[in-house]
Amino acid sequence: MSISKQLTVFSGVQPTGNFHLGNYLGALTQWLDLQHKYHSIFCVVDYHAITVPQNAANLKRQVLDIAKIYLAAGINPRRALIFRQSDIAEHTELAWILNCAVARMSDLNKMTQFKDKAGSKNASVGLFDYPVLMAADILLYQTDIVPVGEDQLQHVELARDLAKRFNQQFGHAFTIPEAKINKEGARIMGLDDPTKKMSKSAASPANYIALLDKPETAVKKIKRAVTDSGSDIKYDVKNKPAISNLLTIYSLLANKSIKELERKYTGKGYGDFKNDLAEVVSKFLTDFQIKFHNISDRQVAKIFSQSAKKLRPIARTTLNKVKTNLGL
Ligand code: AMP
Ligand code: TRP
Repeated sequence: MSISKQLTVFSGVQPTGNFHLGNYLGALTQWLDLQHKYHSIFCVVDYHAITVPQNAANLKRQVLDIAKIYLAAGINPRRALIFRQSDIAEHTELAWILNCAVARMSDLNKMTQFKDKAGSKNASVGLFDYPVLMAADILLYQTDIVPVGEDQLQHVELARDLAKRFNQQFGHAFTIPEAKINKEGARIMGLDDPTKKMSKSAASPANYIALLDKPETAVKKIKRAVTDSGSDIKYDVKNKPAISNLLTIYSLLANKSIKELERKYTGKGYGDFKNDLAEVVSKFLTDFQIKFHNISDRQVAKIFSQSAKKLRPIARTTLNKVKTNLGL
C-alpha cells in the first residue's frame, strides 16, 4: 500500500486597500473548502504590499485586519496556518536565488499585471519583480495547489516554469504547483463598470463592496450599480454583463443557483431585484463584521507567531536543498 503525502495548499492576499467581495468570492471561499482536505497555509503578503509606497501605521493595521478577515470568513487556525510573510526571511532569500538562477527579464516583461499597473518610470524594481517573490512564497512549502482568482493565473504559471527550470538545471528541489480557480466568482466585475474587474485600486469606491463597508453604504452602492439596457433579469454575460455580475454575487452569497434566481425574478424589474440583493449583501456584511470585531489584535499576533514557528523548518529545508544544489 502506498502512503500518499497530504497535498499542500498555499495562497495569500496583500494587506492593502479594501478587501472586497471579488477577493472574498474569487479567492477566500475556495480556501474555506480546501482547509478541510489539505495541509493549508494562508499568508498575509506584506513584502508584496511594499512594492508600492505604504504608510507604516496603516500597513501595520492592514496586516492585522487581513488576518482577521481570514478568520471571520471561517479559516480555522486549528486547521490552517495563517502567517505574515515578513516573519519568515526565507521568502526573500529564495526570491533572490530564483532571480539569479532561473527568472529572466523576458519572463517578467510578459506579466500583464505589471504592464497594467506600472506605466510610470517611478515604479519600484520590487513591483517588476513581484511575481518572483510570489513564486518563492509558493515553492518554499512544496505547494501542490494555489487557489486564486483568475487574475493571478499568469503568476502561478510563472512559478511553475521557474520550478521546472530549476529542477532541470540544478537538480530536483521543488514540487510543481497548480493553480485552482473557482468556476463562479473567479472574476467579479466592478459595480460601476461591468467590463472591468472589481479592484482594490479602483478610482471610485462605487466600484467595489468592501467587507468592512457599512451595510448602509453597501446598500447604496448596490442600488446605484450600473445596469444593462432592457429589463429582464437574465444571465447573459455578453449582452447583460452588469445583471450577470449582480446575479453571480447574489447566487454565491445566498447559496441559490442562477437558474433559481432567474425564475424568481421573471416578470419583475431591476428595482425589485436590487432591493433583494441589497438585503442579502447587507445581512452578509452585518454577520461578517460582528465576527471580525470579536477578534483581537493579540489573538492575531499569537496565531502569526505560532504559525511561523511551524513553517520555518519547512521553509529552511527547501532553502537548504536549493543552496546545496547551487553550491552555496
Ligand atoms: P489582491 O486583491 O490582488 O491581493 O487579490 C487577492 C485575491 O483575490 C487573489 O486570489 C485574486 O485573484 C482575487 N481577486 C482579486 N480581484 C478579484 C475579482 N474582481 N474577482 C475575483 N477574484 C479576485
Ligand atoms: N499576488 C497575489 C495577489 O495579488 C498575492 C500573493 C502573493 C499570492 N503571494 C502569493 C497568492 C502566493 C497566492 C500564492 O492576489
